[in-house]
Amino acid sequence: MVIVMAPSASDNDIAGVVAHVEAHGGQAFVSRGVSRTIIGVVGSEAVLETLGADGLPGVADTKRITAPYKLVSAANHTKRSTVRVGGVPIGPDTFTLIAGPCAVETPEQTYASALLAKRAGATILRGGAYKPRSSPYAFQGLGLDGLKVLAEVREATGLPFVTEVLDTKDVEDVAEHADMLQVGTRNMQNFGLLQAVGGTGKPVMLKRGLAATYEEWLMAAEYIAQRGNLDIVLCERGIRGFEPSIRNMFDVSAVPMMQILSHLPIIVDPSHAAGRRDLVVPLARAGIAAGADGVMVDVHPNPEAALVDGAQALTGESLDELAQAVTTLPALLGRTSA
Ligand code: E4P
Ligand code: PEP
Repeated sequence: MVIVMAPSASDNDIAGVVAHVEAHGGQAFVSRGVSRTIIGVVGSEAVLETLGADGLPGVADTKRITAPYKLVSAANHTKRSTVRVGGVPIGPDTFTLIAGPCAVETPEQTYASALLAKRAGATILRGGAYKPRSSPYAFQGLGLDGLKVLAEVREATGLPFVTEVLDTKDVEDVAEHADMLQVGTRNMQNFGLLQAVGGTGKPVMLKRGLAATYEEWLMAAEYIAQRGNLDIVLCERGIRGFEPSIRNMFDVSAVPMMQILSHLPIIVDPSHAAGRRDLVVPLARAGIAAGADGVMVDVHPNPEAALVDGAQALTGESLDELAQAVTTLPALLGRTSA
């Protein structure tokens, strides 16, 4: 069950509802969104039947939701949500471009990448300080030093940044520096990590697991929401397919499906889907046309020398094509640039 609080509900009203649920033998999970608070209630059928929360002070509505995810479900929202990252909105009315290097390699390369990102129209910088690599011998990222570089580049360019956290032990450091925490495809079902990022109060980007169904993805998002954090942005980044000439299979259906099932914003990452530069802009266009709330791409000033994923990094002409797509297509769908 989900209890939707009125926008005017006070902290006392919320505490009263939580106490009421607990007194009836249920568990209450409070999630504070930008405009209203919702409380997920978990309990036996008998608890939910007899709860009678409708008339409690501050309660606007109660809904029984049978899906295994509740707080992130579209069922209790009349409008899809907007998440703000350092003031930049990601949501249904706007279109947001996130761009930057796959990995932070040096301060110079990160700054140059941020300038390329800006040139393409990006308002949020991406960049990995902790890299999830298939091989333990591959470049693993600069760690804390990389976070500091990103913070300096934010200072120099004014771009807030999103960066991945791989391990619960680094969540505090990443949350201290970053504007948004990313949970990557390999960690989508790392439940301890999901709970830890949920507890930071910072916006979270949750990428789709390599072989995750829509329901599994949303249940993972629910772990973050259950910790009181509804500032979650979903990111479709391609799933494992069988075609060797592309890195992953970009699932364009994920965009409208997530908008049917959930109120959370959904963006696409055509770079990690394609794995090759020449497909990134076409897939970005497809994502925008399907209604994505944003696109995230890799850019690099010298892709040949990149330490991670150079083959998919945009630069030069392909970057200009991306800039053209993001300035023209979202407007056709009634979105303003964020
Ligand atoms: C980049 O973002 C990831 O770390 C990269 O895609 C990992 O892939 P690989 O280690 O298999 O090259
Ligand atoms: C990334 O965006 O840096 C990344 C590692 O992506 P994914 O988790 O989608 O592979």
